[in-house]
Amino acid sequence: MEGLKVLLVFVVLALASSFASASDPSPLQDFCVAMKETDGVFVNGKFCKDPEQVTEKDFFFSGLNVPRDTSGPVGSNVTAVNVAQIAGLNTLGISLARIDYAPHGGLTPPHTHPRATEILVVVEGTLYVGFVTSNLPNGDNRLITKVLNPGDVFVFPVGLVHFQLNVGKTNAVAFASLSSQNPGVITIANAVFGADPPINPNVLTKAFQVDKKLVDYLQKQFWTDNNN
Ligand SMILES: *[C@@H]1O[C@H](CO)[C@@H](O)[C@H](O)[C@H]1NC(C)=O
Repeated sequence: MEGLKVLLVFVVLALASSFASASDPSPLQDFCVAMKETDGVFVNGKFCKDPEQVTEKDFFFSGLNVPRDTSGPVGSNVTAVNVAQIAGLNTLGISLARIDYAPHGGLTPPHTHPRATEILVVVEGTLYVGFVTSNLPNGDNRLITKVLNPGDVFVFPVGLVHFQLNVGKTNAVAFASLSSQNPGVITIANAVFGADPPINPNVLTKAFQVDKKLVDYLQKQFWTDNNN
């Protein structure tokens, strides 16, 4: 009886650890085209369409040649191509984005992708890009930056806070590949100051070591997203 209990605990722990896996699962078949009908069901990945019913449309997206409007508050616009746009990306651990930046300061504000490393290539313009390491043993958060020109490639490791700023006089365009079918985005300012319902201001006043008035001001701003 005891042995059975131990075995059960072991099985439950093994299952739990596989559900908590930090990266996208390896495919156990050629593909697993996501079924639209089950979009309301939240699992790690989606249910697979019958392979016999799969067509080229399940692996296709068009329009990444089209620049997007960058007149919004931060001056950038992300066109995401992940499992939401291409159902065939389900379980494959990869996705893509086009990012347009307005001249003179178009910005992808500091953000992280909780589930993906990003590799970015600039095709037009000049970007000042960077990421910040997690807290190092000496207390530092190191900033790693680079100015990128067309053809230059830069990597933003999974989970780290990063940004891109157009420091040129022209539009800038970059394409990014991400190591998840659904990388997720946490825009720091939006998450911290635009949380709904708002975070108790005492938390932010202490955390940012600023006056409560400044926290109130920041929490009143309308934090937009450059991702839709
Ligand atoms: C991005 O561009 C599209 C079309 O160009 C536009 O409809 C959308 O509002 C823009 N998004 C942002 C956040 O500016």
